[in-house]
Amino acid sequence: MKRIAILGSTGSIGRSTLSVVESYPDRFQVSTLAAGNNAELAFEQAVRWKPRVVSLADEAAAQALQSRLRQAGLGKNEVEVVHGAAGTVRVATHPEVDFVVSAIVGVSGLEATYEAVRAGKTVGLANKECLVVAGELLTAEARKQGKPLLPIDSEHNAVHQCLRGGRMDEVERIWLTASGGPFLNTPKSEFASITVEQALNHPTWKMGKRITIDSATLMNKGFEVIEACRLFNVPPDRVQVIVHPQSTIHSLVEFVDGSILAQISVTDMRLPILYALTHPERIPSELRFSISDLRHLDFSPPDMAKFPCLGLAYEAAAAGGAKTIALNAADEVAVAAFLEEQIGFEDIPRIVEETMAATPAGHLESIRGVLALDTEARLLAREMTKRHARKGSPIRAIS
Ligand SMILES: NC(=O)c1ccc[n+]([C@@H]2O[C@H](COP(=O)([O-])OP(=O)(O)OC[C@H]3O[C@@H](n4cnc5c(N)ncnc54)[C@H](OP(=O)(O)O)[C@@H]3O)[C@@H](O)[C@H]2O)c1
Repeated sequence: MKRIAILGSTGSIGRSTLSVVESYPDRFQVSTLAAGNNAELAFEQAVRWKPRVVSLADEAAAQALQSRLRQAGLGKNEVEVVHGAAGTVRVATHPEVDFVVSAIVGVSGLEATYEAVRAGKTVGLANKECLVVAGELLTAEARKQGKPLLPIDSEHNAVHQCLRGGRMDEVERIWLTASGGPFLNTPKSEFASITVEQALNHPTWKMGKRITIDSATLMNKGFEVIEACRLFNVPPDRVQVIVHPQSTIHSLVEFVDGSILAQISVTDMRLPILYALTHPERIPSELRFSISDLRHLDFSPPDMAKFPCLGLAYEAAAAGGAKTIALNAADEVAVAAFLEEQIGFEDIPRIVEETMAATPAGHLESIRGVLALDTEARLLAREMTKRHARKGSPIRAIS
C-alpha cells in the first residue's frame, strides 16, 4: 500500500489524483492533504478520505475546518488540522507518507516540495514553478537522497517514458509538443483585444486558471523548456518546442542514431499521475487511446514573434538562477493582473521582459534565497504592472 500526500488536493491535479486513488483502493491510501483557500472542498475531502493531517493556507479557515470536523465526529487523533506554509511542510514530510504529489500552483508549493525531497520522500511533480525557480537545488537534493523526481506534467512524463528507450548520452534532442493554445491561428493584430474569457478557453486541456493563461501566451511551454533542462540535465538548445494542435503525442525523444520515440495516450492527467504513482511498474488502467484517432497529426514550429514569452523563457533557461525566478514571479503577477482585467494580454510578456531585465543574473544557493529573490521580483513586477495598467483600472493587491 503506497501512502500518499497531496499538496494542492483541491486543485485540478489534486482532484485527478484523488480520482486515481479511488480507482485503486488496494494500492494507494490518502495519508495527508494540503489545500489553499477552498475550505468547503477540503472539508469534504477530509470527511471522505480521513487523512492523518489536513492543511489550509489561512489560520482562521483552518480553525473553522477543525470545528466542523470535530462536529462531524472526526477528532484530533483521526484528522489533525494545520495551516500556512509550516502546515504544508508538515503534510509533505509526515512520517507515514511514502509518496508526495506536488500540485500546489506557483512558488507557494516550493518549500514543502523541497522539504519532501529532503525527507527522502518520492515526489511526483506537477508543480512546474518549483523546477523553474529552483530546479538546480531540487534535482541536486533528489540525487543526494537517491530518490527520483517523477514528472507528472504530461510532456515531461512522456519524455520520462521515452527515455526508458535509451541512455541519456544517446539523446540528441528532446521535443516538447505544444497544442498552440487558443490563439494559434489568431493574427497578432488581434492580440491587443484578447479577453480573459477567450484566453481561458483552452482547446484541449481543462486546467487551473494560471496554467491556462500561460498556455495561451506559450509561457507554459517556456516553463516546460526550463523544466526539461533541469529534470533531464540537458542544455536549452537541445530542447525544442513543436506545435502539435491535436495534443495526441505528448512529447518525443530523438536519439543519436536518428530514432525518435514518441508517447501517445489520452489527454487525461490521470494517466501521468498513475504512471508516477506506480513507477517503475505499469499497471492496467481504463484510460485507453483509440488508435484510429491517429489519422490526423499536424506539426509546425512555434511563432516566436507572436508568442514572445517562449523566447524569454529560453533566455532565462540559458542564464539560470535569478533570471528564471524573475521570469516566473513576473509572469505570476502579470497573469493575476490580466485575470483581474487590469492589463491587456500583450502586457504579460512586456512585464516579464522588463522584470527580467531589471533583475541581475546570479545563482541562488538555498530555497530561502530563492524565496527572497522571488519576493523582490514580485515587487518589481508590480511596479511594471502599474505602468502598464489600463486607464481607470484600479491596481488592487495582486498576490
Ligand atoms: N491542471 C493540469 O492539467 C496541469 C498539468 C500539468 C502541470 N500542472 C501544474 O500543476 C500545478 C497545479 O495546477 P492545477 O491546474 O491543479 O492548479 P489549480 O487547479 O489552480 O489548483 C491549485 C492548487 O494549489 C492550492 N494552493 C494555492 N495556493 C496555495 C497555498 N498558498 N497553500 C496551499 N495550497 C495552495 C489550491 O488550493 P485552493 O483551491 O484550496 O485555494 C489548489 O489546491 C501547477 O503548477 C500547474 O502548472 C497542471
